[in-house]
Amino acid sequence: MDYITLSNGVKMPQLGYGVFQVTQEECERCVLDALKVGYRAIDTAQSYYNEEQVGAAIEKAGVDRKDIFLTTKVWIEHYGYEKAKASVLDSMEKLRTDYLDLCLLHQPYSDYYGAWRALEELYEEGKIRAIGVSNFYPDRLVDICSFSRIKPMVNQVEVHPFYQQEEAKKWMDKYSVQIEAWAPFGEGRGNMFQNPVLNEIGKKYGKSAAQVILRWHLQRGVVVIPKSTHIERMQENLNVFDFALSAEDMARIAALDTKMSAFFSHYDPAKVEWFANMVEERKKNHDCTKEKKDW
Ligand SMILES: NC(=O)c1ccc[n+]([C@@H]2O[C@H](COP(=O)([O-])OP(=O)(O)OC[C@H]3O[C@@H](n4cnc5c(N)ncnc54)[C@H](OP(=O)(O)O)[C@@H]3O)[C@@H](O)[C@H]2O)c1
Repeated sequence: MDYITLSNGVKMPQLGYGVFQVTQEECERCVLDALKVGYRAIDTAQSYYNEEQVGAAIEKAGVDRKDIFLTTKVWIEHYGYEKAKASVLDSMEKLRTDYLDLCLLHQPYSDYYGAWRALEELYEEGKIRAIGVSNFYPDRLVDICSFSRIKPMVNQVEVHPFYQQEEAKKWMDKYSVQIEAWAPFGEGRGNMFQNPVLNEIGKKYGKSAAQVILRWHLQRGVVVIPKSTHIERMQENLNVFDFALSAEDMARIAALDTKMSAFFSHYDPAKVEWFANMVEERKKNHDCTKEKKDW
């Protein structure tokens, strides 16, 4: 496993396991499998509704808590100082831990400054080892870096061969914010796993397109958290530390960039309305456990 060092000196595994869209029924087994095959970083979120299952798996796995890098994210409806602080403590209870390795603000909407102050305080109290943001496009990132007391250490954004985020990465580098890729495979959209260039490169090294993609991320200095519910794929996705892509391979993959999201733009006002409506719906309907298709 390779590690990267965040701006505050904390070391983070460069490859972890993400549990977005892993159901409550499957999540405990999946996290146990992931830890069994060697993952030591787990990425969950309040809005995935599986923090309790992640916590149960960590408790059962027999891996020292200090050897696991655990991330969760605060959802928009818990933004504002007080609600965010209470929600993080609630997440820690669900995750059966008395500290988090990383806590992110999930989206750049609503009162994220209030929520950020809560994360700053929890960080200073030693309850969170590193704090960061997610889906903060360069303008929002520069804003929070410029006007907050503590700068985010990580920004988790969509990154994959079809949306490489070169420009956003430059801004993150400028402010010493570590880039972390969500959907490192673009969830397979655009037939990414079948892409001829990725498969051709993989053949040279006896590796799959998925492994080539992860290797490309690692060589760009990006942290990755691929998701799979299949133990063989979890293993495959971890088996990327025994080969290196050449400069020519990297250049061929760089040419696959469409510079467009495979999902949606966080600048799209209709999408902001969609997030706002979701928060309203959740206030009305407290049984949110059935929802899982959100970011
Ligand atoms: N911050 C955010 O807003 C945000 C948004 C999205 C995701 N995330 C985080 O990022 C993590 C990863 O993103 P993601 O889950 O959306 O997508 P992803 O990791 O890009 O792709 C997951 C998909 O790829 C398949 N897959 C995995 N390994 C494979 C392999 N070796 N060969 C073929 N198919 C493979 C999985 O199928 P199977 O499961 O069937 O194997 C699943 O359908 C999430 O779990 C979550 O932790 C964060």
